Amino acid sequence: MSLRVAILISGSGSNMEVLARSMTGDHPGRPCLVLSNNPDAGGLLKAQKLGIPTAVVDHRDFKGDRGAFEKAVQDQLQKWRPDFIALAGFMRVLTADFVRIYEGRMLNIHPSLLPKYKGLKTHARAIAAGDIEAGCTVHEVTAALDDGPILGQARVPILAQDTPETLAARVFQMEHVLYPAVLRRALAGERSPIMLP
Ligand code: GRF
Repeated sequence: MSLRVAILISGSGSNMEVLARSMTGDHPGRPCLVLSNNPDAGGLLKAQKLGIPTAVVDHRDFKGDRGAFEKAVQDQLQKWRPDFIALAGFMRVLTADFVRIYEGRMLNIHPSLLPKYKGLKTHARAIAAGDIEAGCTVHEVTAALDDGPILGQARVPILAQDTPETLAARVFQMEHVLYPAVLRRALAGERSPIMLP
C-alpha cells in the first residue's frame, strides 16, 4: 500500500507540484493533502488542478498563538492521516511539540548548502560572502530551524554577474530535481544522503 504524503506550502507551490507529479506508478507515496497557511498561495490552485485535496489554516487567525495554529494544522492533517510530511516552501517555524509528532517522517527543502545560511535571504548572503557555489538541501525536520540530518544536496555555480534573483532561478531548477529524488528514497527508508550533480 502507498504511503500518504501531506505537502505543506505557503507560496507558489512549484516544489509541491514536482513532488505531487512524481508520486505515480511504482513510487512508494501518493499525495493525500496540500495544506497552506496562506489562503492566497498559488500552490493551492495547482494542487486542485492535480486533483489533490487542499486545506488552509491561516496563521493570522491565531494572532501569534503558535500552539493553537499548530493544533489547527494537526486537526486538518489528522483528517487525511498522512504517513509522511513534505514541507515545500512552508514559511512557518514549527515548535518542538509539532515536530515530535512527525519525527523522522518530515522533510524540508532549504535554498542553501546547509549548514550554511539557515533562515532567509540565502542567495543574497551567499553572493555577499563571495561564495563560488550555492545550492539547496533536503533535510529531516528537527526542532532547530533548518537543521536536522541532511538527506540530499544539489550544488550550482555562482556566476560573477549573478543577482539573488538569477541565482535563485538556478537553484530552483535543482530544487525540483533534488526534492522528488530524496522524497522517493526517504519513503523507501533510505537515509543516506545523495549529492547532485
Ligand atoms: C523554495 O525556494 C524553497 O527552497 C523555499 O521556499 C521556496 C518555495 O518555492 N523554502 P515554491 O513554493 O516551491 O515554488
